[in-house]
Amino acid sequence: MDSSEIRQRFLKFFEARGHKIIPSASLVPENDPSVLFNTAGMQPLVPYLLGQEHPMGKRIVDVQKCVRTGDLDDIGDNRHFSFFEMMGNWSLGDYFKDEAIKWSYEFLTSKEEGLGLDVSRLYVTVFEGDENAPYDEESKKIWMSLGIPEHRIYALPAEDNWWSPGDNGPCGPCSEMFYDMLGSIGDLDKQGFIDAQKREDVIEIWNDVFMEYEKKDGKVIGKLKQKNVDTGAGLERITAVMQGKRTAYDTDLLAGIISVLAPIGVGHDIRKKRIIADHIRTSVFLISDGVLPGNKDQGYVLRRLIRRAIFCFLDHRMKDEEVSALVDMVVITYGDIYSNIKDKSQFIKEVIIKESNKFDQTILQGLKEFEKGIDPFILATTYGFPIELTLELAKEKGIQIDIEDFNKKMAEHQKLSQTASAGMFKGGLANHNEKTIRLHTAHHLLLAGLQAIVSPSIKQRGSNITEERLRMDFLCDHKLTDEEKQKVEAWVNEKISQGLNVIRREMPLSEAEKLGAEMEFGAKYPDMVSLYFIEDKEGNPISKEFCGGPHVSNTSELGKFKIQKEEAVASGIRRIKAVLE
Ligand code: ALA
Repeated sequence: MDSSEIRQRFLKFFEARGHKIIPSASLVPENDPSVLFNTAGMQPLVPYLLGQEHPMGKRIVDVQKCVRTGDLDDIGDNRHFSFFEMMGNWSLGDYFKDEAIKWSYEFLTSKEEGLGLDVSRLYVTVFEGDENAPYDEESKKIWMSLGIPEHRIYALPAEDNWWSPGDNGPCGPCSEMFYDMLGSIGDLDKQGFIDAQKREDVIEIWNDVFMEYEKKDGKVIGKLKQKNVDTGAGLERITAVMQGKRTAYDTDLLAGIISVLAPIGVGHDIRKKRIIADHIRTSVFLISDGVLPGNKDQGYVLRRLIRRAIFCFLDHRMKDEEVSALVDMVVITYGDIYSNIKDKSQFIKEVIIKESNKFDQTILQGLKEFEKGIDPFILATTYGFPIELTLELAKEKGIQIDIEDFNKKMAEHQKLSQTASAGMFKGGLANHNEKTIRLHTAHHLLLAGLQAIVSPSIKQRGSNITEERLRMDFLCDHKLTDEEKQKVEAWVNEKISQGLNVIRREMPLSEAEKLGAEMEFGAKYPDMVSLYFIEDKEGNPISKEFCGGPHVSNTSELGKFKIQKEEAVASGIRRIKAVLE
């Protein structure tokens, strides 16, 4: 049975039992800023589980797109995916345990209307009870009345059989269904069942949550106004079961996407192929729901996924045609069900290709640095290598990574970024309108120009920037000649017209010192510092200074640079005033 038929059967089965079919909500929650993505089918329905009336009534059925990125490191094994679909039927204050369990059982086992699974391969769990709620004997009895033998019903603690979306919200005890993936396991005692689950010889295929409780700040605070049923049956796992595979990576949901990778350079590394297929699939869905690569929230997750996929290619770049072929295959697999990925396929390709090209140069440079044995922290902050990728590269090469050191530096780094963005590391640059920002970048170019034209030994001794002009004091043993002034001016204007990138990087003080970046005379710097680089088209820095910013991102934003005045301030110290016209 292919995955489309499974979805269809599920929806029809519950429609025939009074449920209204609703479409999947977007992956990005509409009204819940506490989560980045919908991670379970119930999330978009929370207001209704809490008592609000649903416009479609009290019985709902859907297949909800979900994204979970908490365990990215596990992706590539048999069970983990960053994107998955959850089939769910919902009672919003309507039916409860009797119908929920009966219909789960019928759908799983009925040949005509459901999946026709072998009853003798099913195992079931129920909640064993704790201070919040009693042992769920009622569910056990219902299962037994349907023919599940008592010894194949296991009572487990809240850790396994209490479901809640987080520290807050509707929750309750649950009853889960498991399937024997080998077909020959037979009866198991409780410990045997737990062990078989660990080996993934039996896997969970369905969860019925009896949502009649509410959690606040991690504590169950009491009962909800109504008794709800929230069910979740992972399409990935059920499809694997139906197609006789150990993993959904080998089913029609992902095998096509993986097959696109066969001829291209990830060799025979099946794990890498799976990661690429998983991450590109998720990226396609995220972009179709309006997410774009960025530096925070959903955009950051998308960027990480694209970067992680790119990393799996390692030995060559992810070519535009490869991105295109992968996206096409996601569209072939899912386009009939989620039409927005079909409609936006061209745009989706462009977004991934743009992000991947942008990252390419950084990767190549970062890999070189990695080979040299550079600090994982620098790789993360300067080259955008997520730590998990550094760990993976290190594992491949048998290198030890000091993760504690990394975490410590990262924590300091975050503190610094916060301080910097709160405006506390700006020296004389408290005024941050566009004019002063442009002059600030021009200030860096001027220092680099003086060193290039007049003398490499020139050092800055002070600076002051207003909206109208910049002023720089610097060490120099002579009054600048007219020719020198003209040449410096021309040098700066040339760099402006070349449209060079201005890049902020954060790193430990010692690394920055090694790079020989310009420091403010007499300034004391923290262990972690921020530097600004202006780089030529080949990526060579023409300017690198300790600086909290902010700056323009490209020199083309500056306009025309003009030196207005050059004069003496003290013995051996000169002063330039300059403007941007
Ligand atoms: N909300 C339940 C789950 O995600 C059904 O497992």
